[in-house]
Amino acid sequence: MKPGTSGLRKRVTEFQAGHYLANFVQSVFDAVRPGEGFGGLTLVVGGDGRYFNDTAIQLVLKMAAANGFARVLVGQHGILSTPAASNVIRKHQAFGGLILSASHNAGGPEGDFGIKFNGDNGGPAPEKITDAIYARTQVINEYLTTDAPDIDLAIIAKHQLGGMQVEVIDSVADYLELMKSLFDFPALKALFAGGFRLAFDAMHAVTGPYAHAIFEQELGAAPGTVMNGTPLTDFGGEHPDPNLVHAHKLHALMMGKDAPDLGAASDGDGDRNLIIGRGLFIPPSDSLAMLAANAHLAPAYAAGIAGVARSMPTSGAVDRVAQKLGVPCFETPTGWKFFGNLLDAGRITLCGEESAGTGSNHVREKDGVWAVLLWLSILAARKQSALQIAHEHWATYGRNYYTRHDYEEIDSAAAKQLMADLGTQLVTLKGELPKLKLADDFSYTDPVDGSVSSHQGLRIVFEDGSRIVYRLSGTGTTGSTLRVYIERYEPDPARHELDTQIALGDLIQLADRIAGIRERTGREKPDVIT
Ligand code: G1P
Ligand code: ZN
Repeated sequence: MKPGTSGLRKRVTEFQAGHYLANFVQSVFDAVRPGEGFGGLTLVVGGDGRYFNDTAIQLVLKMAAANGFARVLVGQHGILSTPAASNVIRKHQAFGGLILSASHNAGGPEGDFGIKFNGDNGGPAPEKITDAIYARTQVINEYLTTDAPDIDLAIIAKHQLGGMQVEVIDSVADYLELMKSLFDFPALKALFAGGFRLAFDAMHAVTGPYAHAIFEQELGAAPGTVMNGTPLTDFGGEHPDPNLVHAHKLHALMMGKDAPDLGAASDGDGDRNLIIGRGLFIPPSDSLAMLAANAHLAPAYAAGIAGVARSMPTSGAVDRVAQKLGVPCFETPTGWKFFGNLLDAGRITLCGEESAGTGSNHVREKDGVWAVLLWLSILAARKQSALQIAHEHWATYGRNYYTRHDYEEIDSAAAKQLMADLGTQLVTLKGELPKLKLADDFSYTDPVDGSVSSHQGLRIVFEDGSRIVYRLSGTGTTGSTLRVYIERYEPDPARHELDTQIALGDLIQLADRIAGIRERTGREKPDVIT
């Protein structure tokens, strides 16, 4: 039951076996407030609507009642996107929340399920809490529940469950209100009234209801703007992962003759975003940089931003924007939980990851629909296309060519050995590779609470800022996934139109040579290239 980068993620069948889910939920309750009970406190519960969501929620409700919570707020039909859950926790001053999702992993009876605990700031529990939860799972031998009928989640209403109140709430209302407080809705309405066309792919996942309500109903985007907008328990049999592989239809549409002005997609639980301009995919690391450079065009950020943060493997594009704005840029380990302290302390306003996650201080999760609204705000204010904005950005700051190569479901022992050997090898690289600046195992000291997180990825950095980073995924559910991140900075605008894989060709070969990926994994090429 070891929680990974974002909570516990396993096959549905594992969650269904024995008392697996109950043991985990009780371990959370035991670890987050040892010995103090939950009297007077509120818990938020919701998920991305995937298979097993409803069964899990009914169990969580009963266990919350038995563990003494005063109140649970649960999304209608059990639906709350991850950023919406974060907002509900903050707005209603809850003690925390249980979010049921396996993010972008496939759903259905054969797919994945997941659960994580977010604290009262609305963000994923920090490592010391997740470690305590894990420790508890190792010794737990009982859980508390009550014998009560299931709660009807289809209707917005209040119920009594033992001594606890259950409030079934509108999944979208609080989130919509928050978005209205951040963005100029009349200006966005005017954008759509002027004929602007958006294609938003909800991927049969949780953002459907949010996107319908916000883009079509509130902002007047044409009906049909939201595609695949009804959440399905198996996401229509597809991976709700907004990348060029799984959102290839959207990509084809955006590269086609009659492409809309902006294409966007979000993942299973609504925290990731994919942004594609007409004729140009905007890589997430670049999107973060462009949002940071232009955020002041939206009311919420009009006074400027305090600072930015990116995960270590995310490209350095945003660093250059921060430098120009004269604000700090923090480099954190992979995983949204590391942004929490910086956001709480007001040291950063925007943050993001190369894995299609972008967010701000409005909640403590990354937020897919928010990112689309910020892009729309920028397009409305600048009256330019996404393509023009990207090219101007690169001309100003230079371009960070960037790619990630994933080798999925490889043998775990081979993956561990590869990382271990590479770790030892780093020491000797200095003499072997010319222009090497640094080769290390990334370790992070949180500037707010001083906590240290080690072994966060092996990085090889050259003097010109080019980098190769290797790490093992913490969210996969079968075997191991090796991620190799490759980056090169190109200041010359005459060289900003290259194909990314070609621009990075030398480094890609070097990455394989140093780690012996092909030979150790038996793979000729990566499974996914983003
Ligand atoms: C992946 C991403 C990471 C993100 C996490 C949760 O984790 O790489 O940026 O925070 O999913 O969405 P990984 O599988 O690499 O551990
Ligand atoms: Zn997600």
